[in-house]
Amino acid sequence: MGTDEKTTMGTMKVEHEALKRWVAETAKLTKPDHIVWVDGSEDERRALTEQAVAAGVLIPLNPQKRPGCYLHRSNPNDVARVEHLTFICTPTKEGAGPTNNWMAPDEAYAKMGKLFDGCMKGRTMYVVPYVMGPVGSPYSKVGVEITDSIYVVLNMRIMTRMGAPALSMLGADGEWNRGVHSTLDVNPDRRFICHFPQDNTIWSVGSGYGGNVLLGKKCLALRIGSYLGRHEQWLAEHMLILGVESPEGETTYVAAAFPSACGKTNFAMMIPPKRFDGWKIWTVGDDIAWMRVGPDGRLWAINPEAGYFGVAPGTNTKSNPNAMASVRENTIFTNVALTADGDVWWEGIDGEVPDELTDWQGRPWKKGSSEKAAHPNSRFTAPATNNPVLSKAANDPKGVPISAIIFGGRRATTVPLVMQSFNWTHGVFLGATMGSETTAAATGQVGVVRRDPMAMLPFCGYDMGEYFGHWLAMQKVLPNPPKIFQVNWFRQDANGKFLWPGFGENTRVLKWVIDRAHGRVGAQETLLGWVPKAGHLDLSGLDASTMEKVTQATSINLEEWRKEFELQGELFDKLSATLPQALVLQRQLLMSRL
Ligand code: GTP
Ligand code: SPV
Ligand code: MN
Repeated sequence: MGTDEKTTMGTMKVEHEALKRWVAETAKLTKPDHIVWVDGSEDERRALTEQAVAAGVLIPLNPQKRPGCYLHRSNPNDVARVEHLTFICTPTKEGAGPTNNWMAPDEAYAKMGKLFDGCMKGRTMYVVPYVMGPVGSPYSKVGVEITDSIYVVLNMRIMTRMGAPALSMLGADGEWNRGVHSTLDVNPDRRFICHFPQDNTIWSVGSGYGGNVLLGKKCLALRIGSYLGRHEQWLAEHMLILGVESPEGETTYVAAAFPSACGKTNFAMMIPPKRFDGWKIWTVGDDIAWMRVGPDGRLWAINPEAGYFGVAPGTNTKSNPNAMASVRENTIFTNVALTADGDVWWEGIDGEVPDELTDWQGRPWKKGSSEKAAHPNSRFTAPATNNPVLSKAANDPKGVPISAIIFGGRRATTVPLVMQSFNWTHGVFLGATMGSETTAAATGQVGVVRRDPMAMLPFCGYDMGEYFGHWLAMQKVLPNPPKIFQVNWFRQDANGKFLWPGFGENTRVLKWVIDRAHGRVGAQETLLGWVPKAGHLDLSGLDASTMEKVTQATSINLEEWRKEFELQGELFDKLSATLPQALVLQRQLLMSRL
């Protein structure tokens, strides 16, 4: 494709004939006025930002307080992932499994083809090449997202390695993920996010928000990624990756799966409390891990992303100082409130609540209002390079070796603060039976406990029973597997107050986890798994009333566990067609212990 009057290529040369053909076909369908191939340059960012401001898509923030930062307000009907409108379009319904919505590929292509027909008339079509993972890593994947949203382009620029490096990695004949996105008229009746794993294709219409439209993130890195991982013997997981450095300079890497809005970003960049002077936490990733077996038989992980699409509410200099530092400049805020002096505000940010704000929908807001000023799922998009504790290994093409995997849900009751699985199969069982209260990250009711196996319920691109089988099978190719743990930061007392102080104090639990992973500390066997022996969880420096609460947070209540056992059974029944026998046996063992 040469540069004609309709197409802008920047400085890039596209050598890939199949890619050019696909872009031309997509343009023929969507009929844009202009086509812009983005190159990821600084000049381009400036120009696109100016256009976005002129179009009212971005609102510039106070350049003294938030240099290079902008606010975006999405359509109020479009503020979270839409799980009921997300489809896995495998050739058979069984391929998607009972926990996913399924549409036949022909039907989905026809239905969405109609919606795409002419949808970019009067608009610009952006062609966004991007890499998930360090450029040049054999573990990285290239995608190209075609979109009519300038907000998507500017977010993809932060969240991925975008533009020219992706095209050069693709070369003349590389394989790439084909993503097509149009915001259409942002009507929930015409909103679909469809995945075609067998075609390495994603089609998304009718939304302009986060995980629905930044196609490299949940759509490629998790749904398509998990499907590829099963065929290629690796794991694509909804996990943060962090490194814990001891005062002696030993760094241990840990991956942790918590469901959406359940603490990954916070855990990935937490600052250890005073008691842990000399200890450091380094962030490799805050949302997604791609993990493969290394030549040493250990599990090696890369973070496919280059930025953080993090939850704003609750973030402050006490709970997450490194996130606050990360959003100081060059950040896009979505659906937060605006202060009179052009700064951002959300529930739980530092300082006094201002008397007056502009709320996330652009309406005047007064202190004491019953409505929230920022949307509960308001977010920041910040470059990882802004993070003061970004790991030096974050860009390492070979990744980092994982010593421990942690599964954690948001549970007001039942699940104790921390435990270790008896072995790999039992660890897979702990992940597979995990429950968590729903959050504002997806539309629908908030605070309802549902099964969210491995925090992947909304993100697994194939049958969940087979996914469990894949996890079990990984053991055979992993001579040095990580140890598997379960945590719960969210247990509450009778008055709905959290029992565990959480945030930076989670270092105390992490310390026990890595000591266990290195075989340096004992443990106490319970019917659920191994837990810290009395005195082994470092609680020094916590006051007496907190110590009392920790006792409650670590307790195991048999009555609650009998109920939990029933709830776990509901998911297993649903998955019975493909549920591995090893997990059925784990369930029988738990029953006999109960
Ligand atoms: P996604 O980006 O949706 O995948 O979310 P996430 O898993 O990265 O969650 P995040 O770290 O953004 O935290 C979500 C919410 O949980 C925020 O409001 C946090 O303040 C709160 N939170 C995080 N860690 C803790 C903790 O240890 N204790 C308590 N009580 N709340 C926490
Ligand atoms: C999540 O919901 O798990 C997120 C935000 O990380 S989104 O990108 O919208 O999926
Ligand atoms: Mn997430």
